[in-house]
Amino acid sequence: MSNYKDIWFQCETIIHSQSVLKEKMQAICDFLGNHLPSYDWVGFYLSDVTNKKLHLGPFYGEPTEHTSISYGKGVCGQAVEAQKTFVIDDVAEEKNYIACSIHVKSEIVVPIIKNQIVVGQIDIDSHTLAAFKQKDQQLLEHICRELATYIE
Ligand code: SME
Repeated sequence: MSNYKDIWFQCETIIHSQSVLKEKMQAICDFLGNHLPSYDWVGFYLSDVTNKKLHLGPFYGEPTEHTSISYGKGVCGQAVEAQKTFVIDDVAEEKNYIACSIHVKSEIVVPIIKNQIVVGQIDIDSHTLAAFKQKDQQLLEHICRELATYIE
C-alpha cells in the first residue's frame, strides 16, 4: 500500500475505533511499520509535563534503551520545546541527536499538541537517508491532530 490517501483512510479508521488510546497508538505503529517500507521504527512518546520528560509508549520495531528522554534532549526533546515537527534527512549531521540504532539514517518527530501543550509525539526512524517527504509530514501531522482529540 503506497497510496497515502488509502493509508490515511486506514489510520482514520483506527483512530476513531472503539479501542482505548494505547491500543490505537499500537495499531497505528504496527500499521505504518508494516505498510511503509522506509518506516523501520515507529513509536509514540508520551509527555510527563511536570517532570519535563518523554516516556516511551507503544512502538513497532526493535526495542530501544531510550525509554525516557528529557525535554530539549535529542530530536524528540527538541520537538517538544519547539512545538513543531522535526525532519532530519541525515542524522549524522544533527548535533542534538540520540542514536537508537547504528542503522538509522533519517528521522521525523511530530508533536501531539492539545490546548497548546505537547502531550506526546510520534517518532519514526528510517534506515534510508532523507526518507521523510512532505506527504509523510502531512500524514503524520494529520494522525497526531486526530489522536489529540482522544487525549484527556
Ligand atoms: N533519535 C531520537 C531518540 C529516540 S529513538 O530514535 C527511538 C532523538 O534523537 O531524540
